Amino acid sequence: MAKAKNPVFLALDRANPSEALALAQAVSPHIGGVKVGLELFCAGGPSIVRDVQALGLPVFLDLKLHDIPNTVAGALGAIAPLAPALVTLHASGGRAMLEAARAAVAPGSPTQLIAVTILTSLDEAAIEAVGFDPQRPLGGHVARLAALAAEARLEGCVCSAFEIEALRAAHGPDFLLVVPGLRPDAADQGDQRRTMTPREALDRGADVLVIGRPITGAPDPQAAAQAIARSLG
Ligand code: C5P
Repeated sequence: MAKAKNPVFLALDRANPSEALALAQAVSPHIGGVKVGLELFCAGGPSIVRDVQALGLPVFLDLKLHDIPNTVAGALGAIAPLAPALVTLHASGGRAMLEAARAAVAPGSPTQLIAVTILTSLDEAAIEAVGFDPQRPLGGHVARLAALAAEARLEGCVCSAFEIEALRAAHGPDFLLVVPGLRPDAADQGDQRRTMTPREALDRGADVLVIGRPITGAPDPQAAAQAIARSLG
């Protein structure tokens, strides 16, 4: 994907496809694409992807695939006709799975494969409970899994805004960094500053900004999306 003019992909985390589509349509002038995640894809299937694309918006299919190599390759083959711009898969599925995924996407396909490293919902205790080395800091697991994805020639990974600089330094300018967990209003961020604004993430080198509730939950989603687009312009 060439760097999008507007890097914002709206996360449509809805179970109701017609509601989701109406929202995408309303904010479409102010976003660069739409992220269709598991909830909406399970509810709306391939048609919701086609409907969003018919609005002129590329789709990021956030399926977070994680299975045996043959099954992941088959899933990618099955969604190939939808030509999503981005598809996610778990780097922890292992090298063979990542390589099978790479091989399943035909050369010249518009679809870019993006690795998920460590879900931000997992804290250090949860990481240890699933068997990762607790002596290694969380950032070390993220770095290792991102490197595995790069070695398998995936196009990029999902990361937190705080990981952008390290991953950019490790993997260079062409590795796509897809960044969720952003909050446009610095005032909402509290003392801990565990989130960043879209502008800050872009300045640090993010390629794609995934933004959901700050737009979908705003009293006026169009105005919210427009304000974010302006902050990036
Ligand atoms: O928080 P928000 O509604 O903007 O989240 C947008 C999307 O980013 C959601 O679909 C969620 O799955 C993803 N997300 C994430 N990691 C976070 C926060 C959100 O992957 N830390």
